[in-house]
Amino acid sequence: MNYIGENLRLEIFGGSHGPELGMTLRGFPAGEAVDTEALASFLARRAPGRNAWSSARSETDEPLFRSGLTDGMSDGSPITAVIANADARPEDYEKTASVPRPGHADYAARLKYGAIPPGGGAFSGRMTAPLCLAGGLCLQALARRGVRIVSRIAELGGVCDEGELTEKAQSGGFPTLSEARGEAMKAAIAAAKADGDSLGGVVECAVFGLPGGLGGPLFDGLEGRIAALLFAVPAVKGVEFGLGFGSARLRGSENNDAFRIVNGRVVTETNRCGGILGGISDGMPLVLRAAFKPTPSIAKEQKSVDLDTMTETTLSVAGRHDPCVVPRAVPCVEAAAALALFDALLSAEAAGDDLPALRARIDRVDADLQALFERRMLLCERIAACKKDLALPILDEKREREKLSAVEKRSLPSLREYDRALFSRLMALSRMYQEELLETEERFLGQEDEP
Ligand SMILES: Cc1cc2nc3c(=O)[nH]c(=O)nc-3n(C[C@H](O)[C@H](O)[C@H](O)COP(=O)(O)O)c2cc1C
Repeated sequence: MNYIGENLRLEIFGGSHGPELGMTLRGFPAGEAVDTEALASFLARRAPGRNAWSSARSETDEPLFRSGLTDGMSDGSPITAVIANADARPEDYEKTASVPRPGHADYAARLKYGAIPPGGGAFSGRMTAPLCLAGGLCLQALARRGVRIVSRIAELGGVCDEGELTEKAQSGGFPTLSEARGEAMKAAIAAAKADGDSLGGVVECAVFGLPGGLGGPLFDGLEGRIAALLFAVPAVKGVEFGLGFGSARLRGSENNDAFRIVNGRVVTETNRCGGILGGISDGMPLVLRAAFKPTPSIAKEQKSVDLDTMTETTLSVAGRHDPCVVPRAVPCVEAAAALALFDALLSAEAAGDDLPALRARIDRVDADLQALFERRMLLCERIAACKKDLALPILDEKREREKLSAVEKRSLPSLREYDRALFSRLMALSRMYQEELLETEERFLGQEDEP
């Protein structure tokens, strides 16, 4: 599972009920100090088992860095860190291995992978622990650049928080500005839980100190780049920037943010666009909201089906679940925003035509090339298996000639020979890899035959 930004690459591995899960973050610049205590406090805001409104699963969620940090600083190599699963209970899910939980990813996973993974597998909310780890690193790097991300629960169980999210908002405890509204939300969660049910809600996030000019039109737009990461957070069903859907109900004269000059700086009188115009940050606070659906796993009896016997049945989900994922999801929203924004900021830092900026750009292209090359080689593994099944030779000279001719047709005239050389070498490497795979398999099968 990969996130591929312009500069950053994040791979999340492991699952909710295996021994551990973790992440590798590539493209994170060297020389960034990492405050592991601050990172631990950030991860603790998401960790389960700490209060009445979250799952009873007890995990410390302390990251163990395997690479990428030297003497508390990022060293420019990929940062890999793992988090142990100390309190997994896959047996809780044995009874429901063929009965999908309504609202969860169980049925979709069975359609795609042929089985329901225990405890939600890669779909589990636990996968957001490594997301928060990567996002936490980006939050610190952003803070050093004067960018601060804060958030709160804006709405939950019919209760709305009060006040405006400002740069001074502190994250900690139950994440609302109004303590009284927070208490009302907690009471709503407790009531839903007592009823064997669950709640959803809305998280609001604001980013202060973001320079104007980040992002770009169309596919480079900040909204799309942030939303892609937000929608990776399980249970997110809607994302809006600024007034979002509300702006659809206004006239232009009501919705436009008028410009002013304050202390020699262009600002807008209001911020209905949420700090983004044309996909580009306008220098005002970036404001977004993410809507979370109610937790799917509930004790209340629901209709489902047994996919093995193809009969209708009912299901009451046991095990440990969040009666409402929203409080624990608040740092996940911050992490998603931090990743997308630090990625965009790195692009701005690498812009320019001097040697360091050009080298930074070539490093990005190389990282892209490597990711694509690895994707191609992984496809070669499957091609080798198909050729073996069909008893076909690895070298297909006709196919290679056709590929080279297609490459030449796409080439810039000045680069035709270089393209040809590159793709000839690529195909040779892919043949080498396929041969090696088949040889290893034959050796392995040969060993199995021995008495
Ligand atoms: C922090 C967090 C914790 C979650 N905890 C649970 C949980 O305890 N039980 C559950 O059924 N879903 C939980 N979810 C939501 C499911 O993972 C999610 O609904 C499911 O994977 C289906 O994906 P979708 O809702 O995005 O379609 C959690 C999500 C997050 C972000």
